[in-house]
Parts: sequence; C-alpha cells; structure tokens
Amino acid sequence: MNLNIKTNILIVSLLLIPFKGVSAISISNIKANNKTINKSHKSEKSESDFINELLRKMTLEEKIGQLSQYVGKELLTGPLSKTLSDSLLERGMIGSVLNIGGVEKIKRVQELNMKHSRLKIPILFGFDVIHGFKTIFPVPLAEASSWDLDLMRRTAKAASIEASASGIHWTFAPMVDIARDPRWGRIVEGAGEDTYLGCKIADARVRGFQWNLWQPNSVMACAKHFAVYGAPQGGVDYAPVDVSNTTLFETYLPPYKACIDAGVQTFMSAFNDVNGMPATGSKFLLTDLLRKQWGFKGFVVSDWAAVAQLKNQGVVANEEDAGTLALNAGLDMNMTDGVYNAHLAEAIKKGKVSIETVDESVRRILRVKYRLGLFKDPYRFLDLKREKQEIRNDSIMKLAREAACKSVVLLKNDKDILPLSKRIKRIALIGPLANDQNELMGSWKARGEKEDVVTVLQGIKNKSGNGIDIKYIRGCDWTDSSKAEFSEAVKIAKESDVVIAVVGEKALMSGEDRSRAYLNLPGVQEELLEELKKSGKPVITVLMNGRPLTLANVVKSSDALLETWFLGTQAGNAIADILFGDYNPSGKLTVSFPYAEGQIPNYYNYKRSGRPTYLKYIDLKKDNLFPFGFGLSYTKFTYSNLQCPPSFDSQGKAIVSIDVTNNGNYDGEETVQLYVADKVASMVRPVKELKGFKKVFIPKGKTIKVDIELNSQELGFWTNDMKYVVEPGEFNIMVGPNSEQLTTQTIILK
Ligand code: NOJ
Repeated sequence: MNLNIKTNILIVSLLLIPFKGVSAISISNIKANNKTINKSHKSEKSESDFINELLRKMTLEEKIGQLSQYVGKELLTGPLSKTLSDSLLERGMIGSVLNIGGVEKIKRVQELNMKHSRLKIPILFGFDVIHGFKTIFPVPLAEASSWDLDLMRRTAKAASIEASASGIHWTFAPMVDIARDPRWGRIVEGAGEDTYLGCKIADARVRGFQWNLWQPNSVMACAKHFAVYGAPQGGVDYAPVDVSNTTLFETYLPPYKACIDAGVQTFMSAFNDVNGMPATGSKFLLTDLLRKQWGFKGFVVSDWAAVAQLKNQGVVANEEDAGTLALNAGLDMNMTDGVYNAHLAEAIKKGKVSIETVDESVRRILRVKYRLGLFKDPYRFLDLKREKQEIRNDSIMKLAREAACKSVVLLKNDKDILPLSKRIKRIALIGPLANDQNELMGSWKARGEKEDVVTVLQGIKNKSGNGIDIKYIRGCDWTDSSKAEFSEAVKIAKESDVVIAVVGEKALMSGEDRSRAYLNLPGVQEELLEELKKSGKPVITVLMNGRPLTLANVVKSSDALLETWFLGTQAGNAIADILFGDYNPSGKLTVSFPYAEGQIPNYYNYKRSGRPTYLKYIDLKKDNLFPFGFGLSYTKFTYSNLQCPPSFDSQGKAIVSIDVTNNGNYDGEETVQLYVADKVASMVRPVKELKGFKKVFIPKGKTIKVDIELNSQELGFWTNDMKYVVEPGEFNIMVGPNSEQLTTQTIILK
C-alpha cells in the first residue's frame, strides 16, 4: 500500500460494524415490516402475553414437538426419513410439516392435529417452492440471467400466491449461496457466481415471496443454506468447505445478510461445515453472527436430517449430543430426522440444554404461527375456491412466458441466422429435449405437472401455423451411446432449410446431489451435432442445462447457440418467440463458462497475481469460453463517452454514465455493467468486480445515456484482522456489455 496516498478511512471492528450492504434504507424496511406485523396483529404485548401463557401450559414434550418438523409421505426430497405419523400428531409432537401440498391434503393433517393434540397448536406447512409451485418458472440460474430484478420479484410473488392458495405458509427459498464451481449441481438453484448481483437477487426474491407477509396470499421466505453451501471442495455436493475468513465475509456472507435486510423470516442451516465447524452446530454462525451481529429475529430450521448428520461429520458421538450441539448453537427447528423429539428431553434432564434455551426457540416458532393468524384460524390458508382460481391462471401463464423469454442467453449468432427468416419453410427439429415435457420443468418442479408444459415442438407449431413443415426426431438419448437414429436425423436435416437441435442435460443432472466431473453434453449429443453440421444446413442449437457446460465442440457445430437452461411451463412458447424474432434475447450469463473442467474455479473476479501474463496452463489459456455477463442480442449496441467525476467522497456516491447506441435493426434491451478495480490497496484485490448495472430498453437507431450509481461503501473489503475498510485512492471504473469488453476511466476516492 502506498501510505502517502492511502490511509484507511473506515476501520470498524467485526462486531460493531453494520455488516457491508446494510443501508439506512434496508434498516427502515425491517422496521416497516415490523410495524405492519404490529398493526395487523394486535400489539406486541398481546402477542407476547399470548405466547407466554401458552408456553406455561406446554409440557416439555409439547415444547420439543414445536421444534420438530416431519415430511409428508408423498414427496421425499431427501434420503428416507422419519415421516409424519398419527401418533406423533396426537401427542402434539409436530410443529411443522414439509412437502404436503394442496388444500385438501393439508386440511386433513391440520384437522387431525386440531382434533387430537392436547393444546391444538396449529401446524406450520412448508414446501420447496423454488421456481414456481404449479406454474413452473425458469430455474433460478436462468432467471438470474435476465438481470431483471423486478421480474424476479414478480415471479416469486406469483409463486407465493399459488403456493399459499394451496395451503402453504412457508417456502424453502431463496437459495442465495454464491456458487463458483459449475461441477456443483445446485449452481442451478442460485443466482450465479457474483456477490453484488447475488445480493440484489436475494433481496428481490425475498420481497417477492413475502410480498404480503402474514396474509393468506403470501408465504414466508427462507434464506438458505447458511452458510457457504455453494463452495464444497471439488464441487461435490455435501463436501466440506474451507474458505479464508476474508473470502467468507466478502464473497459468501453478503447475500444472506441481504435477505435479512429484505425482512426474511427464516433461515436454513447448511449441511456442510465451514472451516471445520458444521453450520448446523455453529454458535458462531447461528447466534453470534446471525442474531447478535445481524439482528435476525426469526427462526432457523436445519436442512434435511442435518442434525443427525452431525454424528457423521464426527463432531458428536451420538444423537443426544447432536441435538444438544444444534439447539445450543441456535438451531430452532429440526427437519425430518426426529433427533430433537427423541433426545432433547434427556439432554435437558442431564443439564446439557437449559429450558430457557428451549423456550426461546419455541417462542420464535409460536410467534410466526401467531403472526400468520393460525391461532385464530388454523384453516386460514385453506380455501378450495381460492385454490382453483389462483392456480395456473392466465396472468401467471403470461408471466411465466415473459420470464422464460428474458432468461434466454444468445451465445452465438453467425451471419445473423436468427431470428429465422420468413423464407424458412422446412424445419428439422432434432434432439432428446425437443419434445420432452418433463425435463423442461428443471430440478425443483414442486407441484408442476408435465401436461402443462409447452415443448419446443409445440411452441414452434403454435407459432408457425400451417405455413411451415416441421419434421421431428429425437436423434439420440442422454445416457446410452446408440447412434441408431443419426442417419434418419441427417436425412431430415438435408431435406430442410434449417436444423434446430435441442440438446443438453436431463433436469436431474443438476440440482441436489447432482455434481458432475465432466461438463460436456452427456451421451452422444455432441457427435449428433457434428453429423448435423455436416449436412450443410444451418444448425441452431438450443441448449437446456442447469450449469455452465464445456461447449467448445458445440460452438463449432452450431451456427447459432441459445442457452435456455430449464425454462418451465412456458418454455416452448418462449423459445419459439425467440427463434421467430417476437422477442429479442437480452439475457446475460451470471456464471462463467470454461473451455475445460481443468480451469475450475473459473470465476471472473479472481484476485490479482504478481505474474498476470503467466496465468495460464501449458495446454490451455486461462480465459473462459463465455465470460461472466456475456450475452448477445439480435441488434448491435455500441458504447461511447464514458464519464465519471474525477473524484468522490468516501461517504458518497458517484454517477458513472455512458452512451449506448442501438445500431442494429431491432429494438432491444441491454444490461449495461459497471465493474471496479482498486489500483493499489493494502490487500490483494480482484482484477475487477461488478458494482452496478442497469437494464435498459433502446429502440433501434436511438442512443441513450445510461447513469449508474456507484456507492463508495461498495469499494471496501475485509482485512486479515477482520476489519472492513474503504481505502482512498485510485480505482479503475470499467463499463461495458460484459465482464471482458470494457471501457475504462479512473476515479479517485477521497
Ligand atoms: C434438502 C435441501 O438441501 C434443501 O434445500 C431443501 O429445502 C430440503 N431438502 C427440503 O426439501
């Protein structure tokens, strides 16, 4: 560090500092939220009186029951586990049930509970509503590619309306784990590799799910998986996590904090350990950081059987100690393994857990039930008429199509082959995903039904009417190596004007427990593309997948390439909109696509090296095939006239502006991205980091001036002695259409 020009201007200790990202605005939002609670549910006093009175009546068994969650038998989203049973219900030993959906089914369980349990404490119903409930929206990684925060808020709100109309009180979403390793299958469920964008998306999704918190048309959100579930070693799901403290605070923790700022009501603890301590038993994470430092007031649920798994992680010898460790750490609700019900009473008897600790956790859960109005009416969310009206209605279908269109990323478009010319009369539609309804729903289909899904074949038919002749064949499968259909596929390709090849992963090749070591197209799909290319007809490849793939061969065989991820119920209509030019693609990648697996980790915002030009392999360069932020449009945007003030204040903001011109033949949307690099700092800093963006619509032939606000507090970082500092000095300000094509200016932070 050059001490002449740089001194720390903000040094605050870890426990005193409002965590990076906390702003006056976000704090007032939490207050606003609490006010709403108080207004609509009597005064704070009557709530606590009610809860204290109830607590006094509860036996120890009933208290522990409130901390216990069981799964309905119909949808197991984890290994075989203890399921809901009548005897547990009758003994008041179930506080919450997950993954039962539908008014009738939920009503049956709630009725049993209200009839048989002694104190008649209503059950809280949770469900994995990750990217839609009945209407399935694009998978979160896809939707993140839209960079459209308002859209993400609206789809979360719509999912919240559908789920709550089906009797659900609580979703286990959003997953806000930053993921920098495409081998990890759950990268599909998050916002990608960038922390700044991840925080914005976390905020939008929490606000969307909780759009009308405590009312029967909205659900509570759950920030998961706390913490750092997205960084398992080797990209293998459930593997240990080992990150430096500075990386922990700078890269991985901010999105969880953003959820609190957005008013999230619950957290889920992660399966993994963080630097040696399992998150589910970590007092540092669940109490010191989450509650004491960040002020979280809601409750924490474990992940599926994560309490019992503390034994497998080797930090306790038996389940009694597992329950003890978890509850004392601040883990309020125990998902599915029954450890609390089986062992906590004994642990309390032995003095390992205090009754005050139990009471505090029970209070947190009763509070939520009280605020949801369930004590007044346990059937408040159970209205069959509403369920019929709210589910899959026209407006939600329209939104699903809009979201699907906006999630697609155009990766290649040689000779502007797309959108398809009106002269195209014969289409060869080939590939295992071209007419598959099930796979298009992605890895978390909740209660989505494949019959509702529009495939690419159907979407093209809907669009093209009678004028276009479509020939369809699967061509191959994902897993077997049969090429039996290749010759027929090539034959129909030759007889057509254009080939549309729909290839990729099966939906369940990404998601939980779906890590991959090889990231190429599975099976013989790459060979199929090669053969199709040899037909001499233009090949438009439509990819469906839940993670970045290694696409070098696919790029060679394709004239145009569309990354469509898994787009959900309206997938086929949206893809047809794009193929025929009714929607101009505007998505941009939020994860980097490597050439080869050996480049992983391949995230764009890596730290500077003393020998930057040596940063390569002897057999491959370091660059990614498609960089973070990349995505083409049918039109052309040019950037000029980057302007920023010469300096700005350490407490202030700077407005960076740039002119963006639409020089092409179509109206279009562009996401203008602002990156920053600290030129000289007291610690090694990343080569660049996203610190702002704006998505704008620009009619063809027009230029618009895009202003992006840069907040000085975003320019700080954590030091090794765990202080957050914003250091004055020079910063490079870089603006452009992706993380590589950037125009640079310098600004001084005073
Ligand atoms: C395990 C997953 O990790 C978590 O995200 C999910 O919410 C639970 N299972 C419940 O299905």
